Amino acid sequence: MEVVPLGSDSEIAAVAAGIIEAVVRHRPAAVLGLATGSTPLPTYRELLSRHKAAVGPSYAAVTCFNLDEYVGLAAGHEQSYLATIARELTDALGISRDRVNGPDPSSDGLETAGERYEALIAAVGGIDVQLLGIGSDGHLAFNEPGSSLASRTRVKTLTAQTRKDNARFFSSLDEVPTHVLTQGLGTILEARHLVLIATGESKANATAAAVEGPVSASCPASVVQLHPHVTVLLDPAAASRLDRLAYYREVYTAKPAWQGF
Ligand code: GLP
Repeated sequence: MEVVPLGSDSEIAAVAAGIIEAVVRHRPAAVLGLATGSTPLPTYRELLSRHKAAVGPSYAAVTCFNLDEYVGLAAGHEQSYLATIARELTDALGISRDRVNGPDPSSDGLETAGERYEALIAAVGGIDVQLLGIGSDGHLAFNEPGSSLASRTRVKTLTAQTRKDNARFFSSLDEVPTHVLTQGLGTILEARHLVLIATGESKANATAAAVEGPVSASCPASVVQLHPHVTVLLDPAAASRLDRLAYYREVYTAKPAWQGF
């Protein structure tokens, strides 16, 4: 695991966008795993500005998979994660909507939605790079505390904390769905490279638990410690409770230019 303490959102966005661009340059038909929430937005804006300036790669052959989706919103709801990703990133990058996948939250197929989503990911050979945020309670995608570290895509019930955290995207707390479909922790571990971003004071405890705590279902994001290729990008507030912060800084300062991420 490479923990990279950076100075600001914009530095994180530059590094994360560089990682994604490198994957797409190396493999134009790359499979990108996308996250929602506010954390990845600066990275998405950076990718878009490079794309508009014609300095980014072509995304025409890229396929995307979202981490998760709300259950119970009207089809096409502006806060559905499929609509959010199209609006914030993929439409403007020129990725056609039929190449952007999310778990299917239709009420008449929920029991099989997880298996169907896993089959879609498997059919394209898996995810090359997976962007991840972290919940203030340590959740990863929508795997709330207590989720099996081996879990697969399935329906989950949100905690009261997560519904409260996400209420800012809706007109009221009552509108925040209670249920979601989410890639499992075992599913996420199969992506070839995990890029976990955490920013802000509200993520400091969860980040410390995920990176330096025991691997435990009580902090689902700690499962990243089991993955062989993880990059953790942190702003000063999110990194502030790490015991080994000085060491991570030394490692990053001494990182050889040829190494990449
Ligand atoms: C959301 C998403 C996660 C995200 C997390 C943090 O509910 N399901 O994928 O990482 O919670 O969100 P934010 O980045 O807005 O803090």
